[in-house]
Amino acid sequence: SDKAASSDEKVLRVGTNADFAPFEFQDENGSTEYQGFDMDLIRAVAKEMGYTAEIQNVNFDGLIPAMESGNIDIIASGMTINDERKGQVEFSDPYYTSGLTIVVPKDNNDIKGFADLKGKKIAVQIGTTSMEEAQKIEGADVKALNSSADTFMELKAGNVDAVINDLPVNDYYIAKTKDTDVKRLDDKLTSEEYGFAMKKGNTELKEKVDAALKTLKENGEYDKIYEKWFGT
Ligand code: ARG
Repeated sequence: SDKAASSDEKVLRVGTNADFAPFEFQDENGSTEYQGFDMDLIRAVAKEMGYTAEIQNVNFDGLIPAMESGNIDIIASGMTINDERKGQVEFSDPYYTSGLTIVVPKDNNDIKGFADLKGKKIAVQIGTTSMEEAQKIEGADVKALNSSADTFMELKAGNVDAVINDLPVNDYYIAKTKDTDVKRLDDKLTSEEYGFAMKKGNTELKEKVDAALKTLKENGEYDKIYEKWFGT
């Protein structure tokens, strides 16, 4: 995790799954200075609140349990706000709009959208909305893997027909790896909003986080961070 803060600093313990570029990831050297849109935004939110963010890297499906056991205060991990999770955590106001898309090998011409995934082998990251949606597809053989990197590896290895993942993550993968063997399909299954998640009942922290987010949206800081990761 990030460098320990000196004892007079207030620390916000952030949990993430740092395998989700451009939202959270490690550079090639595996530095724990986690990079990405969420990482910059949560650091700015913490700073605005008078805290220092200390970031821990956890499996995606371990994030809510880590918060429930008191190891982290907040989750910044491209986490989609949905009803099921709302029963388990307090969400901040939404900070990003996303949705699910499909990646297939470039030479695959029979999968054109979600309707063509029936009976197919599909790789997804465990515990995600992609997993949930894939499991609803009739006859699909769903491989739930630990990371989004693993899902792309399975596709490259020819072990699955398709990957379902959040749209910006699919696009970033293709752009960064200059991977010409795969393509992202236009069909978008859902519209999803990301929120920071806090422990159920911690409305005090939620209010502080929402106030900080609001300030960052008003003072242009949010736009700067957005531009850095999604600007052209
Ligand atoms: N938005 C999706 C969800 O909430 C995927 C998030 C995965 N995030 C990550 N850091 N691996 O289920």
